[in-house]
Amino acid sequence: SQPKLLCISGSLRSESFNTAVLETIVDKLDGRATCERFDIGTVPHYNADLDTDPALPEVKALKDAIAAADGVVIVTPEYNYSIPGVLKNALDWASRPGYQSVLKDKPVFIATVSGGGTGGVRCQAHLKNVLAAVLAQTFVCPEVAVPTAGQKIENGRLTDETSIKLVMTAVDSFLQTL
Ligand code: FNR
Repeated sequence: SQPKLLCISGSLRSESFNTAVLETIVDKLDGRATCERFDIGTVPHYNADLDTDPALPEVKALKDAIAAADGVVIVTPEYNYSIPGVLKNALDWASRPGYQSVLKDKPVFIATVSGGGTGGVRCQAHLKNVLAAVLAQTFVCPEVAVPTAGQKIENGRLTDETSIKLVMTAVDSFLQTL
């Protein structure tokens, strides 16, 4: 059967370049995988006092979505050389209970998209470290990064063919592992 992917954008911005690349991935997969999306803006700030059983509905929705997926695709900006707080926040919620969470052994594909020339690769190093902490199975490949995205995105989609090829070659390799 078809792999089920959970697609997460690290940006809440309505005109987000990262969300545009994520939607381009969904388009180009063209039905080769079932793609769900999760809006990480729905979960509150992490607070261990709120990390209860049963979980808050928004947190339960996040954890259920991750648990139901064969793999998670994260496309995120780099903020100040690191992971956007909103993404780290979602990963922190999903990471509990420690070492036994829905992220344990979960295949995760990561890519970064940036308005700048370095493409967000410094964020990828930090994100890989966080994913290691939660015992996720990060897909290993040369960094998938789209720099100077302002020139490569139109109408909410990635239009630069070289970038599309880079991203989709890696996504297809990831799919083959699921
Ligand atoms: C940025 N940006 C950025 N870019 C980068 O390549 N390295 C960085 O460290 C940062 N830092 C950073 C911090 C903050 C707070 C913001 C808001 C932005 C620029 C970033 O790449 C650009 O705004 C992207 O367009 C953000 O992604 P979305 O929202 O378009 O998906």
